[in-house]
Amino acid sequence: MADRYQQFTKTPVGKFVVPKLGLPNPATLRRYKPGQPALEGPALLGAAPGGRLEKTLKSQLADAGIEVIATPLDQGKHAALVFDATGITGPEQLRELHNFFQPVIRKVGSSGRVVVLGTPPELVEGRERIAQRALEGFVRSVGKELKRGATAQLVYVAEGSEEAAESTLRFLLSAKSAFVDAQVIRVGTHGKTASAPARWDKPLQGKVALVTGASRGIGAAIADVLARDGAHVVALDIPAQGADLSKVANKVGGSSLQLDITAPDAPEKLAEYLTTRHGGVDIVVHNAGITRDKTLGNMTESGWDSVISVNLASQLAVNDKLLADKVLNSNGRIIGVSSIAGIAGNVGQTNYGTSKAGVIGMIDVGAPQLAEYGGTINAVAPGFIETQMTAAVPLFIREGGRRLSSLGQGGLPVDVAETIAWYASPASAAVNGNVVRVCGQALLGA
Ligand SMILES: NC(=O)c1ccc[n+]([C@@H]2O[C@H](COP(=O)([O-])OP(=O)(O)OC[C@H]3O[C@@H](n4cnc5c(N)ncnc54)[C@H](O)[C@@H]3O)[C@@H](O)[C@H]2O)c1
Repeated sequence: MADRYQQFTKTPVGKFVVPKLGLPNPATLRRYKPGQPALEGPALLGAAPGGRLEKTLKSQLADAGIEVIATPLDQGKHAALVFDATGITGPEQLRELHNFFQPVIRKVGSSGRVVVLGTPPELVEGRERIAQRALEGFVRSVGKELKRGATAQLVYVAEGSEEAAESTLRFLLSAKSAFVDAQVIRVGTHGKTASAPARWDKPLQGKVALVTGASRGIGAAIADVLARDGAHVVALDIPAQGADLSKVANKVGGSSLQLDITAPDAPEKLAEYLTTRHGGVDIVVHNAGITRDKTLGNMTESGWDSVISVNLASQLAVNDKLLADKVLNSNGRIIGVSSIAGIAGNVGQTNYGTSKAGVIGMIDVGAPQLAEYGGTINAVAPGFIETQMTAAVPLFIREGGRRLSSLGQGGLPVDVAETIAWYASPASAAVNGNVVRVCGQALLGA
């Protein structure tokens, strides 16, 4: 579904009228194209005294082909501002944020990036814990102040996982994270299992990825992006979607599997298929999802049950089977698709909101389990994404969904897919138990 208002703002009449009337003016976001430079300009790198990341950051940024500068530009804009805040051990040192950012915050380019790196507060004590926790408020506020499609993120890097932060840094700085804004990401203590891919543009070479609900919308985009990154994609959907499913599978050079994931024997069939055809699976993306919206007073039992079954219960059953039979390969990935409705709630979506909050619970419970198994489990929580699902939303609510966010527009299916591809990378082995919103910093549930 096209965002006609955003298209209008780019016409000669729109360019004249929009600023005059003070109307929202959503930026055209820079999105990833193979071969494009990581950033369109230099990254200014700074650190609070005593930080432990600056040296690694310098080499990681240089490896990604990014020009790193230590003093602000006199002229022109910075493509990124990267700040190592791990040296901040008490509230008085939070002033370092002001010292670094205040002089340059107006000099962030279009689709520019602000990335602050800290220490996970739960891994430190006392004043340091308080000060590290405070970074969240800073980054979320910066996200709301930035203009022209620029974003701000906070990455908490556990001690010992400095090297393992590379995949996250690359993702956040690149155009792949176009619609991810004001998120807090944890690179945890499992850094040692992270390995840089032989080719950063094909990190999933040799991997097998299962994508449920892959015949259209976000699922089709996930299949596309994972295949672009080198994976063989097993695209799964219900038999009624068989024709569209084959098209997606053919397009990405993958295979198609017609299966209703809520069928009682679905986990068994899936495990058998993945084992006999591929010897196992490396990446499982639980994208299939449905809505059956009604206010609670009008909701039928079947409307409730079907949503919980597709969006949550069937996924747990599949995970249990794939883990119990070791069908998920070592260093495997399970990726859930939650929703901001699971964080903020939504009128007419008590069933859906419950199921999507349950997906977050699945990540919380699964993270230690997967760490022990040798793998990770994370989720994306999309906000307003331009799909058939959101095209059916009434105009007024649809416009609200688009504009009530820092980026002032809806995201594209590819934005969700890119975030999933970052989780899927072998280099993201220390990224476990995260729920990252792909919502352009929607005001809902913020
Ligand atoms: N579009 C958005 O703005 C948005 C926002 C937040 C979350 N999400 C979530 O993203 C995911 C994809 O959304 P979408 O907009 O592409 O939806 P969609 O309806 O276009 O696609 C969902 C797919 O899942 C498949 N599916 C449904 N039940 C199934 C079952 N029992 N077995 C196998 N496949 C089944 C459908 O056939 C369909 O192809 C969903 O989980 C949705 O809840 C979407």
